[in-house]
Amino acid sequence: MNKNIVVAIDGYSSCGKSTLAKALAKQLHFIYVDSGAMYRAVTLYFLRNHIDLQNEDQVKKALDEIDLNFHAKDYNTHILLNGEDVSEEIRQMHISENVSAISAIKQVRTAMVKQQQKMGRSKNIVMDGRDIGTTVFPHAQVKLFMTADPKIRAERRYKELIAKGENVTLEEIFENLAHRDYLDTTREESPLTRAEDAIILDNTKLTEEDQLNFALDRVTPFLKLA
Ligand code: DC
Repeated sequence: MNKNIVVAIDGYSSCGKSTLAKALAKQLHFIYVDSGAMYRAVTLYFLRNHIDLQNEDQVKKALDEIDLNFHAKDYNTHILLNGEDVSEEIRQMHISENVSAISAIKQVRTAMVKQQQKMGRSKNIVMDGRDIGTTVFPHAQVKLFMTADPKIRAERRYKELIAKGENVTLEEIFENLAHRDYLDTTREESPLTRAEDAIILDNTKLTEEDQLNFALDRVTPFLKLA
């Protein structure tokens, strides 16, 4: 039986992981899963329902009530939280400011990792996040670890949010990214770290096309084996 191919893309916040992951999945006709969107949707649910993060029973009950689904239109993946399309709302600053704390909770991670592993069990998949190559799919055939100059990352995210009409400053974004990097790399539960066998991709000076070609070169040998 053919084995499905898993491409794991991890890295810091706003490094262009999802842009590359989407382009790669589109080119290869693989499924694309944005694992960060799942943590963001959970964060939205927790904030809306005023869940006390210290209260394990409340956290468990909330996780049981959450049903997450993706539906894809032309590789512009939409995430549904209990049937509601929250794709836009989860990108807002109040979610970015809370998502690292909520994604550090062990129960939250266990629930998300289980769903992610199920998604990659039988289909060719590109998944981006923080712990995909280390925890979710430690046996992924291709692992990329993305990084870029923090200033460039903040400028990219700033432009995106301004284009969507959000009222933010570049300094705010820079601080938020630095803070999220700190929390994501220092948390106890599967912190962001490069898997030993992950290939580093620093895209500070690379175009989107350069990055896609770099990734395709790594995946193509596995297509021939599959
Ligand atoms: O990729 P993103 O910026 O949308 O992710 C939002 C947050 O979710 C990020 O700050 C950390 C968390 N996250 C995580 O802990 N593990 C993942 N696999 C993906 C995201």
